[in-house]
Amino acid sequence: MKITVKRDEEFVEYEVQTQETTLLELLKEIKITQDNTLTFSSGCRSSVCGSCSMRVNDREVLACSYKVQDGDRVEPLRNVPIIRDLVVNMDSSYAFNAKAKAWQKTIGKSVEVTQDDEKVNEVQSDCILCGSCYSACPVYAVNKEFLGPFALTRVWRYASDVREGDENSKIDTIQTNGVWDCTLCNECTIVCPQGISSKSDIEKLRSKSVMAGYSDPNFANSFGGGFGFDGSPSF
Ligand code: SF4
Ligand code: SF4
Ligand code: FES
Repeated sequence: MKITVKRDEEFVEYEVQTQETTLLELLKEIKITQDNTLTFSSGCRSSVCGSCSMRVNDREVLACSYKVQDGDRVEPLRNVPIIRDLVVNMDSSYAFNAKAKAWQKTIGKSVEVTQDDEKVNEVQSDCILCGSCYSACPVYAVNKEFLGPFALTRVWRYASDVREGDENSKIDTIQTNGVWDCTLCNECTIVCPQGISSKSDIEKLRSKSVMAGYSDPNFANSFGGGFGFDGSPSF
């Protein structure tokens, strides 16, 4: 089996005699038997820690669960600085959790949490911060300040929590470089190993924003020309 791995700016081809295996096991074999300078991250080896996220054939995967195929092209995640080979620095992306204030701000009055309440954000609570959605998001090509999919999913997780006593403060912080900057392309949903749809969470946050009195600034701008005599919008 042959795979190519992006190292610095070039692709290096490796050939390994192996049966069906995961990409992570293959990379380890290459490191042990052929090239001990090959660098990648891993931890749990069971799709839990999120540290082995990388791109294969232009699509984000967890190397520990992806079954490697002959001819695969392996690259580091996008939109984050590369430290070496397949290892990236996720600090800048994690910083968006803080910018979005993606945590519970106020513990509201004592509320009973039902099983139905828990189901509202159960899936979102399973985010493993692998960064796949962040890498797949096309918005970073034009806006490096976009809060991004996993931070907005985390905001939804807390904004929808019945124990949050100040829901509006969650909504206030995601108006700039936030919910309205998403193109709803769904790339984040396609690559998430945890079945989380940040796109859908962003749509729900948009609805909450409208209920809180905010509106889509792009929509407002597109009507900046006003209305014609027949009542249709002019641009
Ligand atoms: S749906 Fe929005 S957050 Fe998700 S990848 Fe597309 S632009 Fe990014
Ligand atoms: S939302 Fe999914 S793809 Fe994004 S960081 Fe969390 S687990 Fe990874
Ligand atoms: S090594 Fe932990 S998710 Fe792959």
